[in-house]
Amino acid sequence: MTNKQRVLLLGATGETGGSILKGLLNDAQSFEVEALVRPSSVAKPAVKALAARGVNIRVADIEGPLEDLVKTLAGVDVLISAINAGGQLAQLQLATAAKQAGVKRFVPCAFTTVAPPGGVMSLRDQKEEVYQHIRKLYLPYTIIDVGYWHQISFPTLPSGRVDYAAVIKPKVEIHAGGDQPSILIDLVDIGPFVALIIKDPRTLNNSVIAYGDVLSENEIFGIMEALSGEKIAREYISADAIIATRARCAAAAKADPKSYPAWLQSVGQDYSYSKYVRGDNTPAYAKYLGYLDAKELYPNFQPTRFTEFARELLDGKMEKIYPDMVFPAKVEAASEK
Ligand SMILES: NC(=O)c1ccc[n+]([C@@H]2O[C@H](COP(=O)([O-])OP(=O)(O)OC[C@H]3O[C@@H](n4cnc5c(N)ncnc54)[C@H](OP(=O)(O)O)[C@@H]3O)[C@@H](O)[C@H]2O)c1
Repeated sequence: MTNKQRVLLLGATGETGGSILKGLLNDAQSFEVEALVRPSSVAKPAVKALAARGVNIRVADIEGPLEDLVKTLAGVDVLISAINAGGQLAQLQLATAAKQAGVKRFVPCAFTTVAPPGGVMSLRDQKEEVYQHIRKLYLPYTIIDVGYWHQISFPTLPSGRVDYAAVIKPKVEIHAGGDQPSILIDLVDIGPFVALIIKDPRTLNNSVIAYGDVLSENEIFGIMEALSGEKIAREYISADAIIATRARCAAAAKADPKSYPAWLQSVGQDYSYSKYVRGDNTPAYAKYLGYLDAKELYPNFQPTRFTEFARELLDGKMEKIYPDMVFPAKVEAASEK
């Protein structure tokens, strides 16, 4: 007889899911970890590598017949989704199947910044549609948000020293004055946080904010300059310019709903608006929205501060995230900067 929780993870080969997988595998006393993989991905080397690490693979098309999906979820205690940003609404049927299969806790794909529902961030609104569906089903759940990753928050340097790990380069923008504090996390800390949260009865049917730091862009640039000895030539983007660019990108995405790059650019502008113009992504606003704070729940876990991350980054020790992905070109601000 085992007391381990059987956890089924969707997205184990992705960035967020990879961190979660590691966090769960490192707590082998608590979890039996399996991966949910779509049929078209079974032959991928990354999936074969999962199996080689001893992770059992369950194969299902989450948008295929409901009865098949319910069977796939049999015996699962905790179902975690770390589906890519563009796939949020595919979780609607997954939640329905989880309810029918008797899953004891569903962790839908949140893992983003703090923001309110209702027109501030289109990505957030898709996630909220999934949360509302979960609540209508009376399915036990936990929503875990994490702020913005350190890995996509650092500016590039004139020497090119950190370009090896940068998703977008150059990245030297300061938004809306740069003084707005914003929640940050090291991607590697998401997994250990998830492991703590899903074992904890206090987090059932709650939202949790888990993070390592709260810093403004001006503070982040200051840390990078102090540690590197380099001076960054900042590009200032005003709140008005963010609002205008966001509107332009949202209109472009609406006009071409099948264009993933257009949607991704619009999502990026939503982030700037929410984090820097509205100032949503803070512990205080998270509390106001009803989140539990993982720092208070797990005071013994010390997540990575941005300064520690930056030291490793400057030492050349970071792995590039999304190594195979091509990102859309930078959007020029619509009006004054
Ligand atoms: N907080 C932040 O700073 C931040 C940054 C980036 C992303 N995020 C959030 O994190 C979430 C995860 O994004 P990510 O960028 O980490 O993901 P990712 O690296 O793109 O990985 C997505 C994973 O989902 C799997 N997947 C996609 N569709 C699937 C389907 N229909 N059935 C089964 N598996 C499927 C993919 O597997 P295959 O494609 O191989 O099948 C892959 O393993 C997003 O929703 C986003 O909101 C947050």
